[in-house]
Amino acid sequence: MAERVRALLLLCLLLSGCTAASGAGSSAGGRADALLARMTLAEKVGQMTLISVSALRGNCLGGQIAPLQPSCLQAELAGAHVGAVLSGGGEAPPDNTPAGWARMTNAVQRYAMAHSRLHIPILYGVDAVHGHNNVLGATIFPHNIGLAATWDPTLAHDVAAAAASDVRATGIHWVYAPVSDVARDIRWGRYYETFGEDPYLDSQMAAATVRGFQGNNFSSGVSATAKHYVGYSGPQRGLDRTNADIPLRTLQQVYLPPFAADVRAGVGTVMANSGAVNGIPVHASHYLLTDTLKGRLGFKGFVVTDWQDIESLYDRYHLATSYDDAIRLAINAGVDMSMVPDNGVDFAHRVIALVHAGKIPQSRIDDAVRRILTLKYRLGLFAHPEVNAALADAAVLGAHRTLARRAADESVVLLKNDGGLLPLHGVHSLLVAGEAATNVAEQMGGWTIGWQGVPAGVSPPAVTILAGIRAAAGRAAVIAETAPVKAAAAARHAGAAVVVVGEKPGAEGLADTETAALPADQVAVAQAVEGTGVPTVLVILSGRPLMISPLIRRARAVLMAWLPGTEGGDAVADVLFGKVNPSGRLPVTWPRRIGQVPLTYMQLPNTSADPDAEYHPLFPFGAGLSYSLYTTNGLQASLHGRDVTVSIGVGNAGPMAGDDVVPIYGRADAAPVLVPDKLLIGFIRVHLAAGQTRTVTRRLSLQPLAVVTGDVGGSGPPVVVPGPYTIMAGSEQIGVTVR
Ligand code: BGC
Ligand code: BGC
Repeated sequence: MAERVRALLLLCLLLSGCTAASGAGSSAGGRADALLARMTLAEKVGQMTLISVSALRGNCLGGQIAPLQPSCLQAELAGAHVGAVLSGGGEAPPDNTPAGWARMTNAVQRYAMAHSRLHIPILYGVDAVHGHNNVLGATIFPHNIGLAATWDPTLAHDVAAAAASDVRATGIHWVYAPVSDVARDIRWGRYYETFGEDPYLDSQMAAATVRGFQGNNFSSGVSATAKHYVGYSGPQRGLDRTNADIPLRTLQQVYLPPFAADVRAGVGTVMANSGAVNGIPVHASHYLLTDTLKGRLGFKGFVVTDWQDIESLYDRYHLATSYDDAIRLAINAGVDMSMVPDNGVDFAHRVIALVHAGKIPQSRIDDAVRRILTLKYRLGLFAHPEVNAALADAAVLGAHRTLARRAADESVVLLKNDGGLLPLHGVHSLLVAGEAATNVAEQMGGWTIGWQGVPAGVSPPAVTILAGIRAAAGRAAVIAETAPVKAAAAARHAGAAVVVVGEKPGAEGLADTETAALPADQVAVAQAVEGTGVPTVLVILSGRPLMISPLIRRARAVLMAWLPGTEGGDAVADVLFGKVNPSGRLPVTWPRRIGQVPLTYMQLPNTSADPDAEYHPLFPFGAGLSYSLYTTNGLQASLHGRDVTVSIGVGNAGPMAGDDVVPIYGRADAAPVLVPDKLLIGFIRVHLAAGQTRTVTRRLSLQPLAVVTGDVGGSGPPVVVPGPYTIMAGSEQIGVTVR
């Protein structure tokens, strides 16, 4: 046996590049096994322990921005063999520069390598949910909800690849993204972190993001994390981290598909949902973590907890009788690594004792550690644990601005354009009103420099909306006002007005809302300007549809710009002045009023006499205008098993080149369970010159139309049932029969 292994190794050496050829994965697994065989229980448990960098500085108790503290490093890394460290929102080095980050992660890495008997590198993680967003000077991309409005998975891939290059330049190999939760409720504080309300669109964008982060087999990228598995986005009343009651049918058909897509894309890690589903905290659910994720979906990476969530099983949920009991429950349910995050020493001691007491099987520990070490090998951490800090600033500062502008350009949704007010031309003077026109924090949203958004007194580089408009306005005079009376006075002399409104940034539960309203002072400015009768463009900076129907009604044109990031001002100006033909489409439903919430386009047929039981939003899923007139015709569809080949002619009858997005929907005409009138099964994003027509063909799976069969308690995996189906695109539809 040993002879054969040696012979194989020799062959590998001779053929050099065996690792690459045989897939780094399998050989990484082999090396992980070999290392595992040499490890003590304490060393193994250390690998399952993830602490915050704050636990390595100050008084080692977390919560401080301070230099690394040798006594904390000693206790956690040398003493408890901790194998992973994270920076949560805002947990930057005291000098928040890319070089400062690289020096900090290098120092952690060097200490760990030098003080571990087997020289095992640290896996360092960070939230990079729209660029390397904690780092001052890193380019900030649109938040996911805006990226989803592009309906452009290739762009999502490129944005993730750009973020990965920044993250890696600072010595970090692991990101807590993409959020793969399906948006359900605009009241939820993390709505903007999602790719919208449709499971298929979500799956496409999330999987593209995973591929963008991880690159070719992790060799140059970082590991992505599909989060927050699963059901996190459906809590009661949109309250973050509360129980979600989700029928298993809905869980399978709506919430799981994006995670399944991430797993198919090879995602390295999955983070569990802090909340509970149907009365079971996900961190304690063997059904969700082991049976479904690792079993049925075939996930081979590792499961990490969210922030302090094992302890929560005890001190918040009272599901466990003690912290020890909580650890037993979580690890046996399938958790592989705990984001402790403040006291790794204590966590590790408890796990060791639980194994000695026979409460956690040794095999479960080995399985978890094998998964973790395999990823460390695949990331190349053993070979290259450190990064060259001298290169970090040049790699990160000001990088990817062209890509960020394109992403923001494509994300802008033109919701209204009465009388063709946009693009603006021939306007001699333009009023730009509203404090949001110069509010960088509002155009970036939460998870930017700070956890809750850009902290007061910090100024990340950015093009504000006002600066973008000034740069693009040409000869038009631009006047800026923020107070209602002055803005109204200026409006009377202006040819047109742009009113910019913005939502206060926030993250997690602190960003939950009951109203999705704008602050009163912002409403007052918008009303004052609109009240003068000046042709008004309303520009909205927000991570969710805002309940401002009267302002939208009185505006001549409305641009939803989401949370566009560093290049937001240029992007809004590009669309206002027609440098860019808007191509964004809503990835969510825009309700008329908060009482309609939660509202998605996936309404089920009903026998209600109440008209509101139908789908009557202010703007439907998929809405978005352009400066062109696009046409579709000649829809064709043919079946091959459970796939359908769809072809359709698309044309641009307008005067301007542009990108059209054509959603393709399907419906089972007779299903054993209720299904919506239509569900997205594909989409085409196509560039068309003025006057151009093209025929576009796509082979699509009917899997998005799969249903969980069975009575009220149906729970099995979704299947595409035989029978008649309708395929829809543009204003056409066509029938096919699945046998
Ligand atoms: C959030 C996660 C995040 C983690 C680390 C948690 O509070 O729910 O999304 O990855 O903190 O910052
Ligand atoms: C961290 C965040 C984390 C949150 C959890 C904050 O202190 O910085 O990353 O998500 O706590 O509540």
